Amino acid sequence: MTSTDSDRWGECMDVAVQIARKAGKMVQEAVKQEKRVRSKSTPTDLVTEADHQVEELIISTLRERFPSHRFIGEESSAAGEKCILTDNPTWIIDPIDGTCNFVHSFPMVAVSIGFAVNKELELGVIYHCFDETLYTGRKGHGAFCNGVRLHVSKEKDVSKALILTEIGAKRDPHTLDIFLGNLKKLLSAPSHGVRIIGSSTLALCLLASGAAEGYYQYGLHCWDIAAAAVLIREAGGCVMDTTGGPLDLMSRRVVAAGSQEIADYIVQQLQPISYGRDDHDP
Ligand code: IPD
Repeated sequence: MTSTDSDRWGECMDVAVQIARKAGKMVQEAVKQEKRVRSKSTPTDLVTEADHQVEELIISTLRERFPSHRFIGEESSAAGEKCILTDNPTWIIDPIDGTCNFVHSFPMVAVSIGFAVNKELELGVIYHCFDETLYTGRKGHGAFCNGVRLHVSKEKDVSKALILTEIGAKRDPHTLDIFLGNLKKLLSAPSHGVRIIGSSTLALCLLASGAAEGYYQYGLHCWDIAAAAVLIREAGGCVMDTTGGPLDLMSRRVVAAGSQEIADYIVQQLQPISYGRDDHDP
């Protein structure tokens, strides 16, 4: 990468921050209106008109500013656009993470904008729409919440850990048995507890902030994790595959933790849930 590229990613960061704030305001307005809700892959995988409008705002603004860049967006992908990460500069966007929360006005909803070059995550911007918190992270430049530097928890002992997870959209009995089995193992470690807040992105921001020690999930998407992964790494934490290998952004599974010890512990407990991949056709 040349120094010009590096300066350019700085410009990308500034633009992403402006758009995330604008998109966040749009979500704040939309949450007060009546919502038209539809389901996508399963009855619990929800989408509203606001998801589409916010994604359109983010992508059209970024495209105007960076015409050669590529885009992966949650709703564009749901509408059939291919979800393929190439070496080209690519924005990875979740217009409303926590759509089910948004539908219920449950205050854990975020706009998430990640950016990758040569398949490496370079920056992430996440705007918490209810409390107006802005999370930013850029590779090699640190992670911040409203400008204050973030650090993960360095706790290594799982018996003193708070662990976060999310449920995912599949609710068939076999999937739920595995989900509950994994939950039981992590609770009976014993850990201090397990929390589910309804937004993968914000849960990962809490991990980056040191408010929890571990995170795991099957069934999330690349747009749920792209931006937050930069924050966690820059805050000193680790993000990896549920098998313990390197993170595969398209694999729909992740383990993240403040310390390698907690990450390794979680990896050892998990029984896998199969969700396919983001970059495969349905
Ligand atoms: C979902 C939420 C949810 C998680 C799902 C995500 P969406 O994102 O983060 O908590 O369990 O895996 O896909 O659909 O609200 O953008």
